[in-house]
Amino acid sequence: TGDNSTEYALNLILGSETEVVVAHGHRRVLKDVLPFSEFLTDAFGRRHSYLRISLTEKCNLRCQYCMPEEGVKLTPRSQLLTTEEVLTLARLFVHEGVEKIRLTGGEPLIRPDVLHIIAEMRKLEGLKTIAITTNGINLARVLPGLKKAGVDLLNISLDSLVPAKFEFIVRRKGFHKVIEGIDKAVEMGYNPVKVNCVVMRGLNEDELLDFVALTEKKPLDVRFIEYMPFDGNKWNFKKMVSYAEMLDHIKQQWPNLEPLPGDETGTAKAFRVPGFKGQLGFITSMSDNFCGSCNRLRITADGNLKVCLFGNSEVSLRDFLRSGASDEELLQIIGAAVGRKKKQHAGMFNISQMKNRPMILIGG
Ligand SMILES: C[S@@+](CC[C@H](N)C(=O)[O-])C[C@H]1O[C@@H](n2cnc3c(N)ncnc32)[C@H](O)[C@@H]1O
Ligand code: SF4
Repeated sequence: TGDNSTEYALNLILGSETEVVVAHGHRRVLKDVLPFSEFLTDAFGRRHSYLRISLTEKCNLRCQYCMPEEGVKLTPRSQLLTTEEVLTLARLFVHEGVEKIRLTGGEPLIRPDVLHIIAEMRKLEGLKTIAITTNGINLARVLPGLKKAGVDLLNISLDSLVPAKFEFIVRRKGFHKVIEGIDKAVEMGYNPVKVNCVVMRGLNEDELLDFVALTEKKPLDVRFIEYMPFDGNKWNFKKMVSYAEMLDHIKQQWPNLEPLPGDETGTAKAFRVPGFKGQLGFITSMSDNFCGSCNRLRITADGNLKVCLFGNSEVSLRDFLRSGASDEELLQIIGAAVGRKKKQHAGMFNISQMKNRPMILIGG
């Protein structure tokens, strides 16, 4: 009705706990409807409440899809964000309305101050979820510390259940350590434990059913990720297995696979085999992008704000921090970058021709 929309509009303008005179003259107190930060809202109304921070460019694996064989040129240490800089930015974003921070990399668990960073973030009022994406190599050892420091959500990458194939894909050893990490995460009560699997034709697409079978007894959320093009990863369309094809294959074995309600940002399309403890999902960034509901921003280890995983426009927050910019000035910079965010990415073929960073230098 007209009254409701007037009330809603006033509410947006005036914010929470505000007495609002609605059109028909009644006074009402509206609670908890703070307007979302203008700096984190883009031209299409997307509210960016999810921040991914890369803690390092280094990694103890060399995954084929993430980095070129010859490695990447690492940024000198002095140009990487310090502990204090990471925390200053986290504080600023959470103050503006970020509710979830994911720590990623490179391999976040090899950063020596990772537990300290998490424990400090845990103190930030308004931050609901701290998540971490890890390759699982050091996980079993650091899990008690992570839990104590306050990690809520774990995503562990695993692309093959065959040790020799695992080693081929990641160009290093360590399969059993990852499995140990996943089992320990389940034991310690993480539920679900998310397992990220990048599906590549001719490499691991024949293991889809084995990954689904893992969800029978364990509370795992196996997420099949469409192979995405990044600098140096030799992506080509033929190596990508689309969501439609994966789903079709899985349904031949489990025809009664049931769709589950997705998360509100729609990144994963979720399913469950009836009777199985865990679930599965598909991250369809290539064949069916979820740009329309994207709520993510990224900060690279060298302090650049990246508003889109597949865009090459970046702004150095580190340089502004180091030149003594005030919070207000930083917010203006952030707001301008968010304001330039495109409606959607350029499509997989264009992306594959574009200059970006290798994934390891972005933070997935
Ligand atoms: C860059 S890694 C960083 C965190 C950690 N080292 C790990 O592997 O989980 C984050 C995620 O990006 C995914 N990823 C990397 N390159 C990718 C690509 N070309 N296509 C799809 N996913 C990719 C990885 O599988 C991983 O789940
Ligand atoms: S995907 Fe993760 S584990 Fe693999 S090379 Fe990239 S950063 Fe390292």
